[in-house]
Amino acid sequence: MNERERDMIRCAVTAAAGRGRHEYGVLVRPGSLEEAGRLVREGCPARNYALISDSQVAELYGERALDALRRDGLAAQLFRFPAGEWNKTREVWAELADRLLRAGLGHEDAVIALGGGVAADLAGFLAATYLGGVPLVLVPTTLVAMLDSAVGGETGLDTPGGKGVIGARHAPAFVLADPSLLSTLPDPQLASGLARAIQYGSALDAGHLEAIAANVERYFAREVEPLAALVTRSLELKVGALSRDEREAGYHKVLDFGRTVGRAVEAVAGYGWLYGEALAAGMAAEAAVGEALGVTQPGVTRRLRAVLEAARLPAEAGEGLDEDRYFKVLELECRRRGSETRYTLLSEVGRVAQGPDGRWTHHVPEGVVREVLFGGGGV
Ligand SMILES: NC(=O)c1ccc[n+]([C@@H]2O[C@H](COP(=O)([O-])OP(=O)(O)OC[C@H]3O[C@@H](n4cnc5c(N)ncnc54)[C@H](O)[C@@H]3O)[C@@H](O)[C@H]2O)c1
Repeated sequence: MNERERDMIRCAVTAAAGRGRHEYGVLVRPGSLEEAGRLVREGCPARNYALISDSQVAELYGERALDALRRDGLAAQLFRFPAGEWNKTREVWAELADRLLRAGLGHEDAVIALGGGVAADLAGFLAATYLGGVPLVLVPTTLVAMLDSAVGGETGLDTPGGKGVIGARHAPAFVLADPSLLSTLPDPQLASGLARAIQYGSALDAGHLEAIAANVERYFAREVEPLAALVTRSLELKVGALSRDEREAGYHKVLDFGRTVGRAVEAVAGYGWLYGEALAAGMAAEAAVGEALGVTQPGVTRRLRAVLEAARLPAEAGEGLDEDRYFKVLELECRRRGSETRYTLLSEVGRVAQGPDGRWTHHVPEGVVREVLFGGGGV
């Protein structure tokens, strides 16, 4: 095993119909942005690279990334788009595509997404669609992007009709995650990523949840070694769940704990909540739903809420959640999917409960959801 491979997590994604299986590596190593030239050349050789970044990340890391690439003789050009979730749109995608065309980017070239989940989704969708598809490299700069967007190959845009409804499967050729870049990330954004890590722990590995609880202040102090360990274990859990899904269809639903309520919270709040904040409130709610049904061991909600609060995350959906709008959002989602609303519930910390039908999601009577979410003054 060479030096490059030692810190590498291997991922495999089954690409869109007929395009087979795609394997790639995620390198998690503090300081690796400085080695981006050599690593990108090895991980995704191309003639030119379009480095796509939002305005804030471009300001912080754009020049450093360009220097690192050019130092190694790679040709790269920076393309910025305005920062913010509300820019993950068709309009911004079209403008970037036009700019790449004007710059003459061709089939032998590649896209590098430098930034958070928004840059990964937007630049990823651009790479999936530009000239029918060009290779993609991810250089995540938020915790969400490092431990979530890096694995799975999902890309997409937001529209007034919903989040991620326009999208494509386009796995990266290579992911370079440098946890030292988290030093500049604001605390709420760091907490947002912790929510996803807490979800992996709650659903898949109690030890991971306890490690997060024990190290939470070190993450906020931006200590790189604990952060690197957090990203690595989180990715291993997501990769493990996705590869089991290939043998056991539907298993990926274990990664949806907290997502049913979380997605509705995001939609009802008009994206006023960060991705991880909505997920955190969703997990607390779904743990309580599980306990009310007798599916989840008593005490799980209390433990989960304590960890969420330590991670500076909401442990309640809050009074802002309008009951009627909540159920309308779910109804709309159901119609789109053509199936009933189902919930991923825990049996205990670190384990998802399998339903009597063998599925990893559960039907929950609407009355139980109403009672738990809205009956007692919030979640
Ligand atoms: N495709 C997937 O698998 C997947 C998975 C999870 C989340 N997502 C998507 O990701 C998005 C959320 O991602 P996010 O939380 O990274 O949001 P984001 O990309 O908007 O980043 C959050 C903010 O932090 C700033 N920022 C980024 N890196 C920084 C750094 N190192 N220092 C200082 N500021 C920095 C950005 O400019 C932005 O303002 C959502 O749109 C969500 O749907 C996609």
